[in-house]
Amino acid sequence: MTDSEKPKGIALEERETAGEKLFSPSAARNRDFIRDVFLTTMPNEGRILEIGGGTGEHGVHIAGAARGLVWHTGDPDPVSRASIAAWIDDAGLENLKGPHAIDVTAKNWSVEREAPFAGIVSINMIHIAPFEAAMGLFAGAGRLLEAGGSLFLYGPFSNKGVHSAPSNEAFDASLKSRDPRWGVRDIEHDIVPLAHKNAMALAELVEMPANNLSLVFRKTE
Ligand SMILES: C[S@@+](CC[C@H](N)C(=O)[O-])C[C@H]1O[C@@H](n2cnc3c(N)ncnc32)[C@H](O)[C@@H]1O
Repeated sequence: MTDSEKPKGIALEERETAGEKLFSPSAARNRDFIRDVFLTTMPNEGRILEIGGGTGEHGVHIAGAARGLVWHTGDPDPVSRASIAAWIDDAGLENLKGPHAIDVTAKNWSVEREAPFAGIVSINMIHIAPFEAAMGLFAGAGRLLEAGGSLFLYGPFSNKGVHSAPSNEAFDASLKSRDPRWGVRDIEHDIVPLAHKNAMALAELVEMPANNLSLVFRKTE
């Protein structure tokens, strides 16, 4: 892939490539931490749907460690889907499915026939997309999760209007300068209301390295 063909606007980092496979430096740094929290807070059996799978590395990493899961993954971006497909092929994991072309702002996610899901996961997506993506993610989780099912989010968050670190405040400003519709989301002001609207409640909040959080919501009905 030449530099001009590399996805722009999708990744905020320089990614190495090998064939169709993309390598995310941030995923290399955070994937063990995310996997470990996922394994202790999310179902370890049943169908999981990953939204905004990106390079595909998190899916391979977590599904490889939890063979009781059937891990469906997807991304709206074709270059990311090609990378996910290459990671799935190389991993040879039978419990990895997809990639599906899922845009959470669409009414239909193309995986409805696989529903209900025990869990839905979205890593580093809702702050690098318009707020409609967070709205669509929670609406879809409300629609496609089984009763008691879980939604796992990872990324930077503020709470009650306060950033958890100066670096997150600077990151928020840099996201907004790139696209004014992007930005670090606020747990109490932005996210919890979306959860309640879709019959979910915040069940777990885990502090992660680099001032990120893992949030787990459970469907209450
Ligand atoms: C920063 S990347 C994160 C990728 C991966 N989850 C990770 O952490 O390495 C954000 C991903 O969200 C996807 N995305 C953006 N808008 C989306 C939407 N409306 N629906 C689903 N995915 C979306 C992008 O295509 C991109 O692959």
